[in-house]
Amino acid sequence: MGVDIASDRIARANRKRERARLDNLHFVRADADDFLAALSENARFTAIFILFPDPWPKRRHNKNRVMKPEFLSAAAAVAGKGTGLYFRTDHEPYFREVAEAVREHEDWEEASPAAWPFEEATVFQKRAERHFSLVAKRR
Ligand SMILES: C[S@@+](CC[C@H](N)C(=O)[O-])C[C@H]1O[C@@H](n2cnc3c(N)ncnc32)[C@H](O)[C@@H]1O
Repeated sequence: MGVDIASDRIARANRKRERARLDNLHFVRADADDFLAALSENARFTAIFILFPDPWPKRRHNKNRVMKPEFLSAAAAVAGKGTGLYFRTDHEPYFREVAEAVREHEDWEEASPAAWPFEEATVFQKRAERHFSLVAKRR
């Protein structure tokens, strides 16, 4: 299942899905926080990928970043023990902030440099000159 707040990204993803005939793949247009909050308390993911979220580089906009301690808590609530959280960004300050938040979070344990489970470059990964990856596991 894939989530993005922008309709055009969901439409594009659905076109790719249809071309690839991936009938078991679904995309949801939603805010990431709202999506997690709307899930059943029985929902469990075995892997969660956060790929190139908007970095909001200006300090006064940092609060808009998706990857915050509250998001880590909401993700932990739908993660079984050992679930992988895979975060990738091309923005080094954001990466450092998330690495620190993961280290301080009681539900997640940094597992980097654990292997990334598979490589399939997203649109933004193809545009990025370099990127940084973090793997965490649900305790
Ligand atoms: C830099 S793009 C990366 C898109 C894609 N993940 C990739 O790697 O190519 C960031 C994406 O995050 C989406 N986004 C921004 N804020 C969001 C939020 N609160 N919840 C869900 N998606 C969000 C934007 O619509 C945009 O498509």
